[in-house]
Amino acid sequence: MNNTYIFLLARFIHVVAGVTWAGALIFISWLLLPALRGAGPAGGVVMQQLVRVQSLPKQLIALMALTILSGLSLFYLDISAFGPAWVHTGPGRTFSLGAAFGILAAVYGMFVNAPAAKRMGALGALVQASGGPPSAEQAAELGRLQGRLYNAGRVIMVLILIAVTCMGVARYIP
Ligand code: HEM
Repeated sequence: MNNTYIFLLARFIHVVAGVTWAGALIFISWLLLPALRGAGPAGGVVMQQLVRVQSLPKQLIALMALTILSGLSLFYLDISAFGPAWVHTGPGRTFSLGAAFGILAAVYGMFVNAPAAKRMGALGALVQASGGPPSAEQAAELGRLQGRLYNAGRVIMVLILIAVTCMGVARYIP
């Protein structure tokens, strides 16, 4: 396969995985987490479905990996085509800044959001299995986890919006 086709394939994977990953994170942080927080203990049951049945964390990790790996390949292909000095041009610097924010969002999501979502899903499963309302202890733990996820979601949303903005305007930065 010649370089043009490899570049097109990498761009295709990057743009499709990138917009799906970023869109999902923005939807989750902006609308879903506030709604789950508002729903109280019922939010834990929905989270259990999302985490354990729909495999939300695994799907987000797959999209994140595709975005970052295809993004790194694009860097490699750009540097091969235009030389290392490309990184110091306006587009090169802006794509690099966007990449850094995208990777920061991925790391933050893996170490803060994913563990809290998994814990909430596990607790939701326990509550559902008991067939009754959550105990006072479980309700307090669910509330604490919902608060942590809500705040972490806001952080992710800001990081990912900066990454998307950089990716969107980089080509036109002088
Ligand atoms: C946060 C999610 C991301 C989204 C939604 C996204 C989206 C995009 C889009 C739409 C473009 C095409 C821009 C254009 O042609 O003007 C692009 C290009 C690019 N992205 Fe991303 N991106 C993301 C994350 C990343 C990451 C994490 C990296 C690196 C690890 C990266 C590296 C690149 C590079 C090097 C290009 C330039 C490709 C070229 O020369 O055509 N991106 N990205």
